[in-house]
Order: sequence, then C-alpha cells, then structure tokens
Amino acid sequence: MTLDSRWRDALTREALDAPPSGIVEVMVHGFNKPGIVPLWAGEGDLPTPPFISEAATRSLAAGETFYTMQTGIPELRAALAAYSDRVHGGLFGRPFSPERFIVTNGGMHAIQLALAAFAGPGDEVLIPTPAWPNFDGATRVRGATPVEVPMTLGNSGWVLDVDRLAAAVTPRTKVLFVNSPSNPTGWTADRETLKALLDLSRRHGFWIVADEIYGRFHFKDGGGVAPSFHDIIEEDDRVVFVNTFSKNWGMTGWRIGWLEVPPALVGTFVNLIQYSSSGTAVFMQRAGIAALEHGESFVAHQVARVAKGIGIVSDALASTSRVRFARPDGAFYIFFAIDGEPDTRRLGLRLVDEANVGIAPGTAFGGAGAGFMRICVARGEERLRTASDRLKHWLETTKQMI
Ligand SMILES: Cc1ncc(COP(=O)(O)O)c(C=O)c1O
Repeated sequence: MTLDSRWRDALTREALDAPPSGIVEVMVHGFNKPGIVPLWAGEGDLPTPPFISEAATRSLAAGETFYTMQTGIPELRAALAAYSDRVHGGLFGRPFSPERFIVTNGGMHAIQLALAAFAGPGDEVLIPTPAWPNFDGATRVRGATPVEVPMTLGNSGWVLDVDRLAAAVTPRTKVLFVNSPSNPTGWTADRETLKALLDLSRRHGFWIVADEIYGRFHFKDGGGVAPSFHDIIEEDDRVVFVNTFSKNWGMTGWRIGWLEVPPALVGTFVNLIQYSSSGTAVFMQRAGIAALEHGESFVAHQVARVAKGIGIVSDALASTSRVRFARPDGAFYIFFAIDGEPDTRRLGLRLVDEANVGIAPGTAFGGAGAGFMRICVARGEERLRTASDRLKHWLETTKQMI
C-alpha cells in the first residue's frame, strides 16, 4: 500500500526506506488455507520446553518484575560465558569472560545495536547474498547503505568469492555481515574463508558482525559446532557476535538473545541499550539461564530432527529432474531453484494455491536469491513428507505443461 503525500512528507527517509518483508505476502496469502503445510517461517515447530518456561514463571511469582541492568543480570552473563566455553572451548586460550556478554531483545536487537555502534548515514555495509533480509532492512533503517556481494551456487555448493568481496570494500565500508551457517543457503564458511575475511577486516578496519546463530545446526564433516570466528580472533580484532535463544531452544516468540563484544565496548553498548530497550525482562533472563544450563538434550534433539528433515526434502527434490540446490552444510533451510520458474514471488503464491505448501520466495533474500525458494525443514517428519510429496507431484505434473 502506498502512502499519500500528506503522510510521506511527515516521515523520515529511513522509515520510508524500510522495506516490506518479502515472505509476508505468501504467508498472508496462505495463512487460512485448509490443510496447508506452512514451511515459510524461519523457526522450528516445537514449543519451548517446560523447564525453560517454568524458570520464567518462578521468577515472576518471586516478584522479579522491576527494571533491570542494561547488560543483563550477572547470573545470565556468567551462564553465557560457561555455555560458550562448552561450545567453543574457551577464547584467547582461557575461559570466556562474562564481561563480553550483553543480553538483548533477540538476535534482531543485537544486530540493531551493532549497526548503531558501527555504521551511520553515508557508511556502507557489506552483505553476502542470498541473505536473511533483516541485515539489509536494519542497515537501511540506520541510514547506511547495504552493499550486496552476490554468492554463487557451484557444483559443490554455495561459494563466497573473497576477491569479489574485497573489490566491494571502499573507504566507507564500516561493517561486513558474516552469517555462517547461512539463512537461507546453508552455506557454512570453512576456517580458511573465515581467516581471509578476518584479514580483510584487519587490513581495512571494518567491523565483522558474525551472526553464528545457527552454529549448532551443522552437518558437515560429522557435525559438531560450525567453524567460528571464535576459533581465530585475537583480542584486538574488530569482531562482534550476534546470537539468540530463538532457534536452539525453541524460543522465537520470547525475544531474547545476546551480543558478544570486546569488554572495552560494553559501556558504549549499555548506553545504546538504555536508549532502545532499556534492558531485557528478568523473568526472560531466568528462562535463558535454564536453557543454557539444562537445554543440551533439547538442542541435540532439534539438530537430529533437522538432519533428518534435510534428508527427506533433499531426496524428494533431487528425485525430480527440475530442481537445482545444494544440500545445506548448516542451518535449517533448503534453498532451491526450479527450472523454468524464474518468478519466485509468483511461484510462492502458486504453490500455496496449487500444491498447498507454503514456501518463502527467494526474492526476499536479495538479488542473488531471486530465482530460488526457501523451505524451512525444522519440522516433524510427517509434515515434511507430506510437503515433499505434494511438491514432487506438483513438479512432475507441471513439467508437461512447459
Ligand atoms: C540469520 C539470522 N540472524 C538473526 C535472526 C534473529 O533471530 P531472533 O529471533 O533472535 O531475532 C534470524 C532469525 O530468523 C536469522 O535467521
């Protein structure tokens, strides 16, 4: 819907430039369709485990309803450090310091804070694409300029050409987003690629915002946590980490995450939090502690479920001869192109009508995603089999019409 000039003239350029979500159109189209299998949203279908929710209700019952510290409560910061030790085996050769962690209102808020600290009007932000659309949208809302660096789908998966990325760096480049494992492609940077990106940051002085929220959903070389900037950074490196409780612990609706930064910057981020959210509710932080301390078997269950889901959907797509995709190394999506169907915005709507399956159009993920569709496979086996059968049938029957 376009705004008439009365309202347009009264808004900032940043507000007007905030792009609408490309996924919402398909969701709205299919939301109430009987029997639809919705695979458009980027979240699992398991509710938050009760031991996490109960920690929150206990906190509320105990009267923890007051303003709180902008950094997050010390117990949660300590739990984040201990969790990071378990996952990454320490940092700089010693245990993680709780001082590095700042609690946020979800991964999205962590991204907003990082951008508020590092990029403003006139600055450029590098985004390898296809990418989760909010990197672009949040950059625009800051008044900075997103610069896409298109990745390509080769025979052995998605490739980030580091030379191409280096060629996109200008004196105005302030931030590079590195989302590995990637939503939507599943691309997962190996250690050499991470090193090459870190070298670029060292040479040019820009910040890397490392979005490693899918790091636990990693399937290459027998799985385990995905390669991380934690493995290679030194204390002076300009790298901050965005993370969230959303995906690992089935907490997308809670809106709690964290930002990990060099301790010298914590004071700056405290101020940015004061003037954005003013802190994260204590009862949610208690839930976060429960997730970190007792949530490993839930994470393992989800990762195993996603591995199975990738197998089910990949096998179905590969058995048709019309689909081009790479089996993802990480995250929980399959990003595929259908021969003869370049207009994926329209295709998303058609698949709702004709196959009763809800899939996100690749147009939402930047120019390099335009010919692709994204399926979320963090779902139960039965639903994924139903969706795969419907999709396969649709692909095989529409084939004759081309
Ligand atoms: C790559 C990536 N980063 C960050 C987020 C944000 O997560 P949150 O729900 O914690 O805001 C998402 C959510 O889909 C995501 O896919």
